[in-house]
Amino acid sequence: MSDQSEFFKPAPMEGNGAYNRSSSVQAAGSLPAVRLLERAARAVPLPPAPELLVLADYGSSEGHNSFAPMTAAIAKLRERVGRSRAIFVFHTDLPDNDFTALFQTLGNDSNSYLSTDPAIFAGAIGRSYFVQILPASSVTLGWSAWAIQWLSRVPCAIPDQVQVAYSHDLSARSAFTEQAAEDWRTFLTMRSRELRNGARLVVLTMATDDSGDFGYRPVVDALYATLVDMVDQGLIRQEEFRRMVIPTFGRTRMQFIEPFAKNGDDRIWTEFEANRDAHAFGAQWAAFCRASVFPTLAASLDEARGDARSATFMDQLEAGITARLSAAPVQMTIPLAQMTLLKAIDET
Ligand SMILES: C[S@@+](CC[C@H](N)C(=O)[O-])C[C@H]1O[C@@H](n2cnc3c(N)ncnc32)[C@H](O)[C@@H]1O
Repeated sequence: MSDQSEFFKPAPMEGNGAYNRSSSVQAAGSLPAVRLLERAARAVPLPPAPELLVLADYGSSEGHNSFAPMTAAIAKLRERVGRSRAIFVFHTDLPDNDFTALFQTLGNDSNSYLSTDPAIFAGAIGRSYFVQILPASSVTLGWSAWAIQWLSRVPCAIPDQVQVAYSHDLSARSAFTEQAAEDWRTFLTMRSRELRNGARLVVLTMATDDSGDFGYRPVVDALYATLVDMVDQGLIRQEEFRRMVIPTFGRTRMQFIEPFAKNGDDRIWTEFEANRDAHAFGAQWAAFCRASVFPTLAASLDEARGDARSATFMDQLEAGITARLSAAPVQMTIPLAQMTLLKAIDET
């Protein structure tokens, strides 16, 4: 385990308008999601006036790339609420983000939605979206582009890379995977507090495709090779290089879906997480199996049900399962289906 304090926290984008100037890849990549946001703006239930109509932009950086999505969403909302209803737009980012550049861009750029619509009110929140940053049930429409691939922290050093997607180190890969899962859940939990019932949130983020490709390979290779050269030339120290980690993670389709999966509550795992008692973990699952399926299995023994051999069989099976599960406790998936059946009126 590495000492967390040695790593820098995920840093904001380069300031002074640099992100605004060098983010055309992101702007172009967001366009298909802007269509999704427009669709969401047409369909989302709106709070009745005079309640506030709030749009939130999570991870805005300096704001330039937010114009296209916000303008598109506002246009669709205007078709529904008319020109005079006030709309609030909150841009959010980390505290160190260049909010001066954001406000200058909002105020001065001719593409800014503020330049054409006097009933739009813009504000900013300098706080990580891994906590609740807006009042409960206040947001009608949310947008987050190119942001949530950034993890809340660097979980560990990556011995052979700066980007974990191209690392061969299994423990680093697993630590990043765990961190990404935890962060995605936290992000969703916080947004679920902020969104009104029926509200929509459109998220565009870096990801790993279905063939397992994170992309950007030549860029990452060039970056890493240049850093190695810089170490060789004495421009950076080996120890500095070791700390260099890009805390971004391309989640897979399954990893995005996982928090939404209909899954039973694994109480045995929850208990294990609290007490780290591996034997109790294994024993509880073994008891679960014993009570539910052992009798069926024992029924296949040659001797009759309930005899001594059957009891020994069940004890040994329970002990074996306990030992195996205790050796490597893992959370179970507990897929469940639930449905409501409606009896149709018989008209015959
Ligand atoms: C690549 S920029 C994306 C900017 C813009 N949304 C776009 O589409 O181009 C990612 C932004 O996410 C922000 N970010 C990263 N982690 C964050 C966090 N935990 N809370 C809020 N913003 C975060 C970064 O500071 C950065 O400004």
